[in-house]
Amino acid sequence: MSQADIAIIGLAVMGQNLALNMNDHGFKVAVFNRTVSKVDEFLAGSAKGTQIVGAHSLQELVGLLKKPRRVMLMVQVGQPVDDFIEQLIPLLEPGDIIIDGGNSNYQDTMRRTKYVESKGLLYIGTGVSGGEEGARYGPSIMPGGSPAAWPHVKPIFQAIAAKVADGSPCCDWVGENGAGHYIKMVHNGIEYGDMQLIGEAYFLMREGLGLSAPEMSKVFAKWNKGKLDSYLIQITRDILAYKDEDGKPLVDKILDMAEQKGTGKWTGISALDMGIPLTMIVEAVLARSLSALKDERIAASQVLSGPKPKIAGDKRAFIADLEHAVYASKLISYTQGYMLMRAAAKEYNWNLNYGGIALMWRGGCIIRSVFLGKIKEAFDRNPDLSNLLLDPFFAKEIQAAQGAWRRVVAKAVQKGIPVPAMSSALAFYDGYRRESLPANLLQAQRDYFGAHTYQRIDKPRGQYFHTNWTGRGGSVTSTVWKKN
Ligand code: 6PG
Repeated sequence: MSQADIAIIGLAVMGQNLALNMNDHGFKVAVFNRTVSKVDEFLAGSAKGTQIVGAHSLQELVGLLKKPRRVMLMVQVGQPVDDFIEQLIPLLEPGDIIIDGGNSNYQDTMRRTKYVESKGLLYIGTGVSGGEEGARYGPSIMPGGSPAAWPHVKPIFQAIAAKVADGSPCCDWVGENGAGHYIKMVHNGIEYGDMQLIGEAYFLMREGLGLSAPEMSKVFAKWNKGKLDSYLIQITRDILAYKDEDGKPLVDKILDMAEQKGTGKWTGISALDMGIPLTMIVEAVLARSLSALKDERIAASQVLSGPKPKIAGDKRAFIADLEHAVYASKLISYTQGYMLMRAAAKEYNWNLNYGGIALMWRGGCIIRSVFLGKIKEAFDRNPDLSNLLLDPFFAKEIQAAQGAWRRVVAKAVQKGIPVPAMSSALAFYDGYRRESLPANLLQAQRDYFGAHTYQRIDKPRGQYFHTNWTGRGGSVTSTVWKKN
């Protein structure tokens, strides 16, 4: 019997579909699942007639593999990953590779890479995006970890990944230790932002313009042919057109309480840790949290009032503005996401390829879009681009969209319709583009109440001053603690 190219542990939906995808591309896959009956069910079910082989123990699984052995975990994040690593280590030999394809936290992946390497093995933590269908027919794959492992995994991953129009795979090496999972985390943060923006556009049309779900489906269908052409706009079009058994839109019957598994939150935490103003994604995470307070909102709706949401005037003109507002806000979100990745690369010493990341996200994943092709082009023009907004194409785009964007946010504020993502994106834009901000006053306040000192515009940077604002108190400053 010829030996298997790769093992997959974990036969939930992603594991099964990845195994079938690898099989389609001519790789021989061995599978294992903690509840072993699932292995037989899979072999007798969707894997029937394929080359996929099953194992009923980890020993058996490892014995089926070519060397260096490639073992991919598609299990629940957290402890199960650590448990399988522990069980696999004694069964593997130096140079063998353990791959984690779940949505693990990048810090866990950093720790695991170090640990697995200390045992003489190699480790990859990889983002896999695209849901069930992506896994089956072409996901976006974002691997990082031990660089020596990459040549052994590359042919399989690049074969099964989604391809863009010129045939390039949506998969490339991201960087050392946790880089792959970090990039997947940022992808998910951006996914939260995109979804929130679409939700806000939907809410403005529903509450403000009084459009029905099928009417809005038509708007999204139109947007999907323009600059916003993307997977999330496309599925929104389809969701809004979907009818329940009684013929009414199903979306209207779904409880408005968002859930989340943590990747968006981690993106925000990382941004706060590094001091990156990732405002839009953080607003998107917190908008989910606010939505989850359904019972409190019900109670508050009886007590707190606001303006009537109905937006009068030309609906078509408002919808045209809305398309620009979503587009401009989206540009801010990606700008902030790229600022975060740049900061992380510095913090963790990763040599990230920003155009390559846009290419990886261009197809296969949940945030795939025409827009990502434009981001790729911006980095092709200037690989050292410090900020997306400063790319000539995007600077022009945001300039063209901003009038409409401001009208939409102003209208939403006037009508009491919450648009946290669109409005925070605009506030970021208006802050980022200003040479001066009110932080001079803030520094004065810090110095007044805590002698925290300040720098002056008429003195070189790095010189700190303290003023005895009240004439009382001593002249001791808190400079010692300032940098902590
Ligand atoms: C993907 C998705 C996926 C994620 C879900 C759910 O890239 O395929 O990002 O990895 O788990 O979108 O995330 P939440 O439950 O946090 O919304």
